[in-house]
Amino acid sequence: MKILITGQHGQVSRELQQRLQGLGELIVLGRDQLDLADAEQIRQHVRAQRPDLIINAAAHTAVDLAESEPDAAFAINAIAPGVLAEEAKALGIPLIHYSTDYVFDGSKPAPYTEADTPNPLGVYGQSKLAGEQAIAAVGGEYLILRTSWVYANHGKNFLLTMQRLLPEKPQMRIVADQIGAPTWAGSIANSTRALIERWQAGQPGAWGIYHLTAQGETSWFGFAQAIGEHLKAQGKACAELEAIPSSAYPTPARRPLNSRLDCSRLQQQWQVSQPLWQDALRECLAQQH
Ligand SMILES: NC(=O)c1ccc[n+]([C@@H]2O[C@H](COP(=O)([O-])OP(=O)(O)OC[C@H]3O[C@@H](n4cnc5c(N)ncnc54)[C@H](OP(=O)(O)O)[C@@H]3O)[C@@H](O)[C@H]2O)c1
Repeated sequence: MKILITGQHGQVSRELQQRLQGLGELIVLGRDQLDLADAEQIRQHVRAQRPDLIINAAAHTAVDLAESEPDAAFAINAIAPGVLAEEAKALGIPLIHYSTDYVFDGSKPAPYTEADTPNPLGVYGQSKLAGEQAIAAVGGEYLILRTSWVYANHGKNFLLTMQRLLPEKPQMRIVADQIGAPTWAGSIANSTRALIERWQAGQPGAWGIYHLTAQGETSWFGFAQAIGEHLKAQGKACAELEAIPSSAYPTPARRPLNSRLDCSRLQQQWQVSQPLWQDALRECLAQQH
């Protein structure tokens, strides 16, 4: 089996490259080989490679920057996934694509299900929603996996930022009114492998949109506290944390206050579930040594 993976240096892509070993030949394309902003390049690469599965792990993920460069965000997050879906359908192969909790406005007082109506607050969420819609409109076989608050031991993420800043600063103010599930890219890749194995075994669930985040919930403040506890356990200094509301930390893009995603449909349909966020964080941290 030949698996084409985009986004060579991304958090999820790098974990996929490690965790899909043994499933088949992995063809990994970074931006240098395949610029997703160029639809013609996408078509050429897919037609030349003729993969058995496409995994789109690349995206324009700079949420605040997207507000000032909507054309780039839409080219990469909306148009490119549609082109990948068209090419996958032409080959008769599935497309696995990742999306985000930011398709929702966060006003629901409970975890979001796949049946809830999206209403993104910013350009990034709008472009990711348009990508979902473009894939669905093609009508091929696809899995859209909406995840949240992704971190890893590489790349740009909250875990690494906190591990750098907390030992340096006496105090840090962290947003405490956004609730969600920090999700390790390693867990996303493990779940993706489990989905591929079910499909390969001829036992796939229904194609479509699914929520895929760690279990449990916390705030950014709670996530920072957990990272701080680990620093202290290593004998390192840790800033005193102050919980603040989002209104005290203005950003160009508004974030949903409720990012919780109900992942039960993926469990029912594909028998795939994620670990608790605290357990996944522990496993991720254990791999730093
Ligand atoms: N990060 C999160 O917190 C989060 C939350 C919810 C959902 N998601 C979704 O999860 C998926 C994986 O995210 P991630 O955190 O792994 O992202 P990431 O670490 O930011 O990686 C994204 C990758 O996409 C590549 N890319 C950007 N523009 C490109 C282009 N024009 N052509 C080719 N490649 C391009 C980047 O390449 P360069 O290395 O060259 O920049 C980067 O390697 C995405 O669909 C994202 O929307 C992420």
